[in-house]
Amino acid sequence: MSAVNLAIETGGIAFRNPILTASGTFGYGREFEGLTDLRALGGLVTKGISPKPRFGNATPRICETASGMLNSIGLENVGVEGFERDKLPYLRECGTRVLVNFFGATFDEYVDCGARLDALDGVDGLEMNVSCPNIKAGGIEFGTDPRVLRDLVRACRAAIRKPLWIKLTPNTSDIVALAVACAEGGADGLSIINTITGMAIDARTRRPKIATIFGGLSGPAIKPIALRMVYQVRRAGVSLPISGIGGIQDATDAIEFFLAGASTVQVGTQSFVDPDASGRIVRDLEARLAADGIHDVRELVGALVVK
Ligand SMILES: Cc1cc2nc3c(=O)[nH]c(=O)nc-3n(C[C@H](O)[C@H](O)[C@H](O)COP(=O)(O)O)c2cc1C
Repeated sequence: MSAVNLAIETGGIAFRNPILTASGTFGYGREFEGLTDLRALGGLVTKGISPKPRFGNATPRICETASGMLNSIGLENVGVEGFERDKLPYLRECGTRVLVNFFGATFDEYVDCGARLDALDGVDGLEMNVSCPNIKAGGIEFGTDPRVLRDLVRACRAAIRKPLWIKLTPNTSDIVALAVACAEGGADGLSIINTITGMAIDARTRRPKIATIFGGLSGPAIKPIALRMVYQVRRAGVSLPISGIGGIQDATDAIEFFLAGASTVQVGTQSFVDPDASGRIVRDLEARLAADGIHDVRELVGALVVK
């Protein structure tokens, strides 16, 4: 038996360790078979699922930026039926916790999608992506107005029995108000953060580098913003556990998120650089804690020393 305990029960789910993979950067799990040991991970979060399949945006829809990347995939996915038929059988056997990320284009679609995924065996929890344009509200994201967010979480909560985590958008001036809204709506956990809206220009062609002009920035460039937001939510005393996301490359980055207040972390863009990044972080985290004489990873959560 290992001298270090990495196991943690948080957000309604018992994980063997606190290292998960982030939605949209790890496919539906099977894509990484043979590249990393899924059984060694705490869990994986699937690509975002909508009620019906979506084909996503025009290309180019990815480009590299300084210390990160921009994407505008457009939430391409196989839909709930395709997920159940083609992806879930593998995930049921994959040996790690499975959280399904989901979204809708309307309030009703969110509730419908969440309820249908909730009913599926092999799904350990749901992560709701609220960074989608709300057509009725003029295209502003569902997740940026605390009252809309609270009502959306409440409606989904009423239809979902499994653990429900809400993935917050950083495209806001008040992350704490959004976190409070999720707690009021009855969520079980928060995932902080999604990508930050940005753009990139090709000076030679004078064109935007991605077809939709704007995209979501991810990677090491956003880590300081993500840490700041995790810490702000934690410091405000919001009672929900936090899954920290943003630019995590190695075990040290993960530890920084734990200190800021996250009880799990999710590895995103780094899996494109190194498909075994999440597995490596699990191994290095264990070695690092052992070397530092820390017996339980839970000791680190929120242990930031301020003054
Ligand atoms: C190509 C790509 C696709 C993504 N798709 C989703 C998605 O479907 N749902 C979601 O909630 N987040 C999605 N994300 C956001 C990531 O899960 C993560 O929050 C973000 O990339 C920040 O973490 P990172 O800096 O470690 O990549 C996507 C990110 C990338 C790069």
